[in-house]
Amino acid sequence: MSFPEGFLWGGATAANQYEGGYLSGGKGLATADVITAGSKDEARKISIELEDGTRKSINRFEDVPKGAKAYVDPDIYYPSHVATDFYNHYKQDIKLMAEMGFKCFRMSINWSRIYPNGDDKLPNEEGLKFYDNVFDELLKYGIEPVVTINHFDLPLNLAIKYEGWLNRETIDFFERFCDTIFTRYKDKVKYWMTFNEINFLRDYTTLGITEASNLQRQQQAIYHVLLASAKAVILGHKINPDFKIGLMVANILFYPETCNPNDSIKTMEVDRMFKDFYLDVQARGYYPSYKLKELERLNINLVKEEGDEELLRKGVVDYIAFSYYNSAVISTKESKEKSAGNQLGGVKNPYLEESEWGWPIDPQGIRLVLNRLYDKYQKPLMIVENGLGAIDTIDENGEINDDYRIDYLKKHIIEIKKAIEYDGVDLMGYTPWGCIDLVSAGTGEMKKRYGFVYVDMDDKGNGTLKRLKKKSFYWYKRVIESNGECLD
Ligand code: BG6
Repeated sequence: MSFPEGFLWGGATAANQYEGGYLSGGKGLATADVITAGSKDEARKISIELEDGTRKSINRFEDVPKGAKAYVDPDIYYPSHVATDFYNHYKQDIKLMAEMGFKCFRMSINWSRIYPNGDDKLPNEEGLKFYDNVFDELLKYGIEPVVTINHFDLPLNLAIKYEGWLNRETIDFFERFCDTIFTRYKDKVKYWMTFNEINFLRDYTTLGITEASNLQRQQQAIYHVLLASAKAVILGHKINPDFKIGLMVANILFYPETCNPNDSIKTMEVDRMFKDFYLDVQARGYYPSYKLKELERLNINLVKEEGDEELLRKGVVDYIAFSYYNSAVISTKESKEKSAGNQLGGVKNPYLEESEWGWPIDPQGIRLVLNRLYDKYQKPLMIVENGLGAIDTIDENGEINDDYRIDYLKKHIIEIKKAIEYDGVDLMGYTPWGCIDLVSAGTGEMKKRYGFVYVDMDDKGNGTLKRLKKKSFYWYKRVIESNGECLD
């Protein structure tokens, strides 16, 4: 058998894209609750109110001016508000996961469900109870919860009142949140990861900061996030020494376009900027020399406190979790034909096919990234996101024959097997993204689906939320049953 015994087969989701119930049970507003739906060609937006009271709508990655704040416009549809309503469907959904044979389920905890304003003194009991119910339901079926502490959201109040992660106090609020959930769930949850795709936190909605493109501000906020992650690791191990706490990065594989050394140097720089830096700090415990030089060159002075270095050193993670959807080609030549990708694209790769959203499909890339990570850090790995976003149609028999999804996943699993069997990589688990359909993070669409289970909901928020098993549901069940041996 290639996959080790006890391998964690499962699926992955995030609260802001799946849970809904955006104000239910005492939950407060999160930054994710103010992002509109977009499309493949139209960016998601946020509504902001400027200091002088003027209101306008801006691209979510545009800078929010200082003093401005995001708000919910009652006339606009926001996909996170209902999402695919795990909040009211968790029993039914977990039953479906159990039927597929899930060994684990990756989900995130909505910070503003536990601390509605982020800075509250006491947690919201109803919110805590919701996750108790979810974990109990999972454990009833022998499904191990794998919990992302923070997945692309922040209590909106922390952004408005404190400038989110720019403010060092946010670390304390986050620590309080971690303390609460670690203590409450210490006998129910063993696997945690701190920040989802920590290397993609860069705007108002993820960092909670205005003028996010100002590098001094952005780098200071990221420094605080990294400290918060280290603190969470230290705290978690204190509360339960059996906890396994990981980091989570978006692991895009970057290829140099040609053997021109210039392309390789540029690829190295892109690798460091978008990925390695975050891995190095969290897995090794210090800012790497290339990053210190970069900050120096950019004239960025991070405000630090005594003891910070020790925190980073002590707060190294137990394992490395990552998402992998596509590779990207890096070139020093401008004006080439481009490909899209998970937040970042590259130059078109003539050797690869692309998804309907233009993301290159590169199964061998997953073997490469597994090897790179394992060679470099020698820590157990977990693939916590992988999959194909595609349009599914229900045929005249009421079935969804998503062979394209099966094909994508199958090809990736074959390469994962090689990484384990031939290369000896230590892999703990595999949780394909959006196992039950949910809202796309990039575009806010519903029609970009990843799941084994279809949810009746459209891009405008209309639908019955009814669940329907796709062909891939039965396929994945066989994969898990055979521990990855049967892929047909
Ligand atoms: C990752 C995120 O970026 O990729 C998920 O962790 C996201 O939140 C996933 O949904 C797929 O991206 P998208 O844009 O297709 O939803």
